[in-house]
Amino acid sequence: MTASSRETALQVIEDCLRISRCTEDEHVLTRTFLSPPMVEVHAILRASMERAGMEVRIDAMGNLRGLDRGSGAVGDGARRRLLIGSHIDTVPNAGAFDGVLGVALAVALVRGLAVRRREFDIEVVAFSEEEGVRFSVPFLGSRALIGDVDSGLMKSRDVAGVSVEEAIRNFGLEPLAMADAVVSPDAFGYVEFHIEQGPVLDLMVKEAGKPILGIVEEIVGQTRMVLTFTGESNHAGTTPMKLRRDALAGAAEWMLAVETLANDRQGIVATVGEAVVRPGAANVVPGEVRVSLDLRHAEDSVREKAVRDLISSAEGTAARRGLRVESRIQSEQRAVKMDAALTGRLEAAVTASGAVPHRMVSGAGHDAMMMARRVPSAMLFVRSPGGVSHHPDETVMVEDVQAALDAGLYFLDALQRA
Ligand code: GLV
Ligand code: MN
Ligand code: MN
Repeated sequence: MTASSRETALQVIEDCLRISRCTEDEHVLTRTFLSPPMVEVHAILRASMERAGMEVRIDAMGNLRGLDRGSGAVGDGARRRLLIGSHIDTVPNAGAFDGVLGVALAVALVRGLAVRRREFDIEVVAFSEEEGVRFSVPFLGSRALIGDVDSGLMKSRDVAGVSVEEAIRNFGLEPLAMADAVVSPDAFGYVEFHIEQGPVLDLMVKEAGKPILGIVEEIVGQTRMVLTFTGESNHAGTTPMKLRRDALAGAAEWMLAVETLANDRQGIVATVGEAVVRPGAANVVPGEVRVSLDLRHAEDSVREKAVRDLISSAEGTAARRGLRVESRIQSEQRAVKMDAALTGRLEAAVTASGAVPHRMVSGAGHDAMMMARRVPSAMLFVRSPGGVSHHPDETVMVEDVQAALDAGLYFLDALQRA
């Protein structure tokens, strides 16, 4: 067992920064599912996986996958496989580390393995999509690995009218080969390294003055939906206030009800992050507004009740204001517990490596939510300075990346000895 060096951690950070320059937008980092800059990201990661001696392929959902075959003898039966990964798509105006850190760190771990004699293989997966930005449905990449891709998903369309299936073909991939993306039956675990994206570890580290790494016990459930309020557009100068059916005023009233409900119910977070106003002119009463809702809670029944209550509240607002409202659930993920045994091993590795483990719940969604449906899964969090994420100021501390690398090496070593 060798401790990883500060240089390796700096290299991982440099890899993330280099990848952050691959963007659809000239001025900010935005990189959605199979968008043009993904070609360069694949080229960068492929080169670094190949330098680490991995066999590399891109599956039909655009996930880049590097396989490192351990060279140890197999005792009794077939070789087994550990998957390590995270995603390489981003939100609009993103930071450099959400997702990509977990991929760069996984490749560095494989590169840094002191003992190559292992009785299991390691597959590093750079998931093509997790954020749900392009098709309003998250986890496209990991859904392919768990065999959860149906024709409805393939027909989903982005704002330009391109379907998932067309996006895959346009990228030069073959959607009919989707079955080959499914995780190998010999996989015995999935591990994801990720930034925390919240303030908990940062506050703790400041108090403790030593490296603390998050051990995820559970990932909260989330509902994503879209609501369309329809009224009547009319002239802003001549339509008396009493005669208006203003869709935006109705949507705004409902948005405040969303905020009030989330404030009043312990543990709920609810966000309206998108609003499209039609026709969208200063001198026209808004006739139609489409808003998104992202609502999360660790208990599924609490989340489901909140969603039902907010749909009734939208209907009440619409009725009082002479509007119509339609709501559509786009995606619903149940809360997911990480595997107790694998999580325990990860926690033990953190302690053995000299850092302090802190068990916590993840409010952010992760590919591990999907992977856990198929293979035992575990997650390790690195602190997010200032708790900032989904923002260009998102960053990591080199000592935390080094601590995560050390913990990862201890973890792999312990798995080999088990
Ligand atoms: C992913 O970052 C999510 O939690 O929305
Ligand atoms: Mn994210
Ligand atoms: Mn992420």
